Amino acid sequence: MDILKNSLGQSHDIIEKLVAEGDTVIDATAGNGNDTVFLAHLVGDSGRVYSFDIQSQAIERTRQKLDAQGLSERVKLINDGHQNMNLYVYERVRAVMFNLGYLPGGDHSIGTRAESTIKAINEAMELLTVNGMVTIVVYYGGDSGFEEKEAVMEFIKSIDCRKYTVMKTEFINQVSCPPILVCIERCKGSKF
Ligand SMILES: C[S@@+](CC[C@H](N)C(=O)[O-])C[C@H]1O[C@@H](n2cnc3c(N)ncnc32)[C@H](O)[C@@H]1O
Repeated sequence: MDILKNSLGQSHDIIEKLVAEGDTVIDATAGNGNDTVFLAHLVGDSGRVYSFDIQSQAIERTRQKLDAQGLSERVKLINDGHQNMNLYVYERVRAVMFNLGYLPGGDHSIGTRAESTIKAINEAMELLTVNGMVTIVVYYGGDSGFEEKEAVMEFIKSIDCRKYTVMKTEFINQVSCPPILVCIERCKGSKF
């Protein structure tokens, strides 16, 4: 395998270093359940994953994957938009993963949208523990279009650098709009 992984691979590497047994985390876009399963393994028996998706089809696919691996007890599946996460999560979280775009193998017209995504990123940032991290894999072009990507890129420039460190990783010599990774870490000095 190459050392420079794609954006999704890099997000997993970072989350794997950060999240430990007993942590609480959020998968903001359950989709086919791969990230939820990944997080459920990391938090262990004593941890908790909150996993959101607006499509019942995605929640069902995620449930099946969790059941198949005996991980369902660790995960609360929520068939609602991630922009409402503050209605469901009342504790600090170590990490929040966003994997934007549409459900692979589903309806490409039902994807994440700029306005709700930015509201959700704001809520996720508020929920983070110190040194907790939001990761966002941003898909664009094709059926995803460019509006959400542009809105997210504008928004992250405005984040207060005294409270959060923001990093953007992009590939500059690839074709067909390779996904971009954004990481937002809550700094030590930030007040709750
Ligand atoms: C690229 S997929 C996620 C892939 C997933 N993380 C996985 O491991 O398979 C994006 C998902 O975001 C979901 N989605 C779109 N808008 C949403 C919203 N406002 N809140 C939560 N999920 C949303 C879509 O239904 C879709 O399933």
